Amino acid sequence: MPTDTLTITDNRTGKTYEIPIENGCIRTHALRQIKVSNDDFGLMGYDPAFLNTANCKSAITFIDGDKGILEYRGYPIEQLAEQSSFLEVAYLLLNGELPSPKQLEEFQFLVTHHTYVHENVKTFMDGFRYDAHPMSMLASTVAALSGFYPDAKHTKDEQSRRIQITRLIAKMPTIAAFSFRHSMGQPYIYPDNELSYVANFLAMIKRIGTSTYKVHPTLERALDVLFILHADHEQNCSTTSVRTVGSSEVDPYSAVASGVAALYGPLHGGANEAVLRMLRGIGHVSKIPEFIKQVKSGEGEKKLMGFGHRVYKSYDPRAKVIKRVAHEVFDVTGKNPLLEIALELEKIALQDEYFVKRKLYPNVDFYSGLIYEAMGFPVEMFPVLFAIPRTVGWCAQWEEMVKDPEQKIARPRQVFTGSTRRDYVAMDKRK
Ligand code: CMC
Repeated sequence: MPTDTLTITDNRTGKTYEIPIENGCIRTHALRQIKVSNDDFGLMGYDPAFLNTANCKSAITFIDGDKGILEYRGYPIEQLAEQSSFLEVAYLLLNGELPSPKQLEEFQFLVTHHTYVHENVKTFMDGFRYDAHPMSMLASTVAALSGFYPDAKHTKDEQSRRIQITRLIAKMPTIAAFSFRHSMGQPYIYPDNELSYVANFLAMIKRIGTSTYKVHPTLERALDVLFILHADHEQNCSTTSVRTVGSSEVDPYSAVASGVAALYGPLHGGANEAVLRMLRGIGHVSKIPEFIKQVKSGEGEKKLMGFGHRVYKSYDPRAKVIKRVAHEVFDVTGKNPLLEIALELEKIALQDEYFVKRKLYPNVDFYSGLIYEAMGFPVEMFPVLFAIPRTVGWCAQWEEMVKDPEQKIARPRQVFTGSTRRDYVAMDKRK
């Protein structure tokens, strides 16, 4: 008897079934043969929020949450953050291999020369209220791009896919910067093709009155590293949205807009903002013991924001890199006064039995907000700063899905809990 199978006995019928195990999974569709009668639909899996369901096979990003490992196409995140650049990582995620110098040069050239948006996009963005959240502007504007590039609907055409992906990666910083400038009531700054991906973005954010604004190389490198760390994280909420929406064969702008929308939610892209608010609320290191006591007792439903992760049950490998980057940034910008509170909180939490027992370690969001704030970004821009690099992951995952012959339009089943069939009641007969 083969050992890589699962034997199931249905106690309702006494029948036994043998189901193959592949890659540590059973195909839940194989459960459909398990029936109590011929007209029974067959057994299904019930898994709200996909806690234990693999939705795809993917060769892009590997995570081992217990060991704190994150790898893009096999390369450890620590090595990429140390030695690579964001556009090199983007090439790697999209193509599976690190680029040769010539391939990187071509890719950089392409991305740099697609940074401009149609002038009507600017007009469109002007239509938002003065206080519109930049993330709401980003989601809507990315969706609107499908109206500017009707050729994007040819999702089976590799050449078309590649040009849309280049456009998305290239235009995302422009739209992000425009949404920031709109909220500040400042004029939009056009992209500067002489600058790097990150320096161009920072220039579009910061330039005012003069074209001589120079990005500090330490800050440029710091944001580049943060972009590397945020580029992909396998099947998270926003990536699952992109794959699900994309599975209808809609164009990638519409699919990626759904990813931006998912990232807008406070449980996904908004946690670093919550960390900052928490640190401000604590206010001083002397208040930390009282705060920890409240978290542990569940008083006011307080949580130690920036701690804990659904997948990582040890130190989030991205948090380690970010902590180092934070110190480099503060050497330039001056120390964020909240850092002292963050370091002390971390020290206490890593020793406290409550957090140790529950395997609650700092995650990617614990230090990133402090860096963004030191660089002068308002909290509303934090999820936007996440969306720019994650666009690469969304595009790589979207294309992998499009090319996967096993993928079909996403269409989960449900367990129906509503009323059984009943006859319509005329209006005058209703109570
Ligand atoms: N502070 C205090 N207690 C916590 C925390 C926290 N940050 N996180 C989890 N716990 C407790 C929780 O109360 C539960 O305790 P008990 O067993 O006594 O009921 C236990 O730890 C297990 O928690 P859980 O809610 O079952 O864990 P989860 O995997 O469902 O939640 C999480 C993961 C990230 C939503 C959660 O840890 C959390 O809310 N953390 C704070 C928010 C945050 O930092 N989010 C950023 C995530 S990283 C960004 C990304 O990758 O997208």
